Amino acid sequence: MTTTELRATRPIDPDKLMAFVFRAVGEVGATLNTALVVMGDALGFYEAMADGRPTTSTELAERTGTSEHYTREWLAAQAAGDYVTYDPTTGRYVLPAEQAAALTDESSPAYLPGFFQLAHGTVRDADRILGLARDGDGLGWHAHNSDVHDGCERFFRTMYNGHLIGEWLPALDGVVDKLTAGASVADVGCGHGASTILMAKAYPRSTFVGSDYHQGSIDVARARAAEAGVGDRIRFEVAPATGYSGSGYDLVTMFDCLHDMGDPVGAARHVRETITADGTWMIVEPMAGDRTEDNLNPVGRAYYGFSTLLCTPASLSQDVGLALGTQAGPARIRDVATAGGFGRFRPAAATPFNNVLEVRP
Ligand SMILES: C[S@@+](CC[C@H](N)C(=O)[O-])C[C@H]1O[C@@H](n2cnc3c(N)ncnc32)[C@H](O)[C@@H]1O
Repeated sequence: MTTTELRATRPIDPDKLMAFVFRAVGEVGATLNTALVVMGDALGFYEAMADGRPTTSTELAERTGTSEHYTREWLAAQAAGDYVTYDPTTGRYVLPAEQAAALTDESSPAYLPGFFQLAHGTVRDADRILGLARDGDGLGWHAHNSDVHDGCERFFRTMYNGHLIGEWLPALDGVVDKLTAGASVADVGCGHGASTILMAKAYPRSTFVGSDYHQGSIDVARARAAEAGVGDRIRFEVAPATGYSGSGYDLVTMFDCLHDMGDPVGAARHVRETITADGTWMIVEPMAGDRTEDNLNPVGRAYYGFSTLLCTPASLSQDVGLALGTQAGPARIRDVATAGGFGRFRPAAATPFNNVLEVRP
């Protein structure tokens, strides 16, 4: 039978079909809501509603210096998606306390705008991926729009603020004692340096080298470190993970970047060459299980989306182009570490969004 004949023989359950269509309508609304959340964040709509006072679209427009035509439509879309509540008797909208925390409080572990900004920037570049998917070429991290870089920092910084100092580093064998006494640390693929700066603030006796292959990210990292008052203990450099400078590191860290690299095994080899015999390589990777079926859940769905549009093209744009994927899983990362010459590997901690892996010589 031909493909067309085979397709014609497939029975269709109309109820299942309509259920799928209506679910998809919800997803189209959710897709557009990504841009609306970025808009609400950038124009200060959420901030203006964070005190919980019921507001009309006219009042919101006045408070934010925007046009009521836009606040009216935006508020209704937010109400349809349960981001705000609407009282038809007063025509007023309220941002619930939980939504206010997640959308306006940068210190909250649930802070979300960076995640939306990252998704928004990623989708904006998606048309560039179509042709690449045909011929197998890649698109480097540096080649994306700045919402990808800024959104990534804002999203992951929330995770690091919530877990790095209090949970992840203490989960590694003997690392906190070394950092407290004064250790030498390389933070590889550091992006805007959020993790490097956080560690430098927590451990004033330690010194840090943050590196990333992307010049634009390193420029931002330097500025952020100076603002945070730790510029004297962090040296930032533009370098690939296979060639960052220095040696004798007590701790090498890689936050959400190993899977983005073209040559993660080459990077592992370089870590092995530059770490002390008793050192630790901490790999923080997106939460994933080892099998596809382990990741068929909301977090895995988001990460497979980023993998298709962002991380896999990033890896394919570099030498080797191993394309581990965002959902590689601990077993695959262990293979990479072993191929790089490491002997010990241990899952040390986990959150809903990250796996923390301890690798030692
Ligand atoms: C998802 S971002 C994570 C950035 C940062 N670690 C964070 O958590 O915010 C991935 C980073 O890996 C960097 N990167 C990709 N390939 C690299 C390579 N081969 N060597 C060094 N850095 C690389 C990118 O420039 C980007 O900053």
